Amino acid sequence: MAAGSREQWNSRVGFIAAAVGSAVGLGNMWRFSYLTAEKGGAAFVALYLIFTAAVGLPVMLAELTLGRGARKSPIQALAHYGGDRWKWLGAVFVAAGFIILSYYSVIAGWTVRYACEAIFTGFSDDPGQHFAAIREGWSAFLFHAVFMGATMGVVSGGVIRGIERVAVIAMPALFVLVCGIALYAATLDGAQVGYRYYLNADFTNAFSMDVLISAAGQAFFSLSLGMGAMLTFASYLPRDSHLPNASLAIAGADFGVAFLAGLMVFPLIFALGLQSDVSESTLGALFVALPKAFVSMGGVGRFVGLCFFVALVVGALTSAISLLEVVVSAAVDGLGWARQRATLVLGLVITALGGLAAWNIAVLDVMDQVANNLFLVGGGFALAVFVGWVMKDPIGEVEIGAEGVRWFLGWRILMRFVVPAVLLVVLYHSIPTTIKNIWELLTTL
Ligand code: TRP
Repeated sequence: MAAGSREQWNSRVGFIAAAVGSAVGLGNMWRFSYLTAEKGGAAFVALYLIFTAAVGLPVMLAELTLGRGARKSPIQALAHYGGDRWKWLGAVFVAAGFIILSYYSVIAGWTVRYACEAIFTGFSDDPGQHFAAIREGWSAFLFHAVFMGATMGVVSGGVIRGIERVAVIAMPALFVLVCGIALYAATLDGAQVGYRYYLNADFTNAFSMDVLISAAGQAFFSLSLGMGAMLTFASYLPRDSHLPNASLAIAGADFGVAFLAGLMVFPLIFALGLQSDVSESTLGALFVALPKAFVSMGGVGRFVGLCFFVALVVGALTSAISLLEVVVSAAVDGLGWARQRATLVLGLVITALGGLAAWNIAVLDVMDQVANNLFLVGGGFALAVFVGWVMKDPIGEVEIGAEGVRWFLGWRILMRFVVPAVLLVVLYHSIPTTIKNIWELLTTL
C-alpha cells in the first residue's frame, strides 16, 4: 500500500462485526462462566453489568475517539494527542497484547482440541483425567501453535481482506450457535436448577473486594478495553462514523453473548447433576464439567458439544485477531515494517511466549491475573486520566458524526472523576493480591 494511505473498513457493519468479534470470545464464554460460578452466581453478574455500563462503556467511547481521531495505532495515537511523553502508555498496551495473546491462545488451543475430538473420536469417558493430561505439555503447545497460525493467517491478510472478511461471517455464525445451544439446554429436565443458581442474586458476598476486583477485570477483559485494541480498530474508521452508537452496539452485544453463555452452561451442567464440578470452579472447570455433560447425553451430546466448542473456537479466533492486530499495527506504524513481516515475526514471538502458559497451568492463571488486574485495569485508569485531563478537546472530537447526542458532558464527568476514582480503588486492592499470587507461583515452581 502507498505510504500515508491507511486501510479503512469496507462498511459500518464490517467494523461493528470486527469490534464485536474482538469483544466476544473466551472471555464471554469460558471466563464469564467460571468466574460467575466461582464468585457466587447472579450477584457477580449484576456487578459485572454495572461495571460494563458505568466504567466499560465510557472507556470504550474514549478508545474509539482516540483511534478515529488520530488514525494511528496506540503508541502514535497517544503521542498525537498528548505528546511524546505519553508514548510509554502505548508501549504498555503493546506489552499487554503480548502477554494476553500468549496465554489466550493456549486456552483457545484446548477448545480446538475439544472440537476435533467431538468430530473424530467423541469426548473422553473420563473428562477430568483427560483434561489433566492435555491441558499442559506438548499437546497443549501444539494446539496453541495451530491456533496462532490461524490467527496470523487472518491478520496478515490485512484489515479488509483478513479481519473484516472473517468477522462478518464468524459473528452471525457464533450467535446462531450460542442461541441454538441455549434453547436446547432449556429443554433439559432439571434446567431450572441451573437457572436458579445463575439468576438468583445472593448479595451476601457481592461486595467483598475480591468479587468487585474480578467484576472490574472481567468487564475490561470482555470488552477488550485497556490495551488499545478498540483504539486500533477505530483507527481504520471513516471520520463521520457515529461513535456513541458503535460503543453501545459493541457493549450490548458483548454483554448479550456473556449472558447467553450462562444460559447455556448452567442448565447443561445442573441438569446433569454436575453442580459439585462447578461450586469450586477453577479455570479448567468448564473443560471438565461440560464434556461430562455431553458424554452423558450420548449422540446428541456429541453434536451439541461440537457446536459449543466450535462457537468457542470462532469467538476466540476473532478476539485473538484483535490482540495480534495491536502488536502488528504498532510495528507497522512505529517501525515501518511490512504487515506480513510484522505478523510473522511477532506471531512467532507470541507463540514461543505461550510456551510458558502451555507448560504449566499455574503460570497461565497468574498471567491472566496480571494481565487483567494490573495491565487492563491500570491501562483503563491511565486512559481515563489521559482523556479526562490531558487531551485538549475530547468532546469536540467525539461529537463528530454524532451531532445530535446530548450526554457528552456526562461522559466527560465520568472520564474525569468517576472512572479514575473507581479504577484507583480497584487497583489499590488488586495490586497486593496479584503480587502475592505471583510470589506464590514463583515459590512453588
Ligand atoms: N475480549 C476478548 C474476550 O472476551 C479478549 C480480548 C480480545 C481482549 N482483545 C482484547 C482482552 C484486548 C483485552 C484486551 O475473549
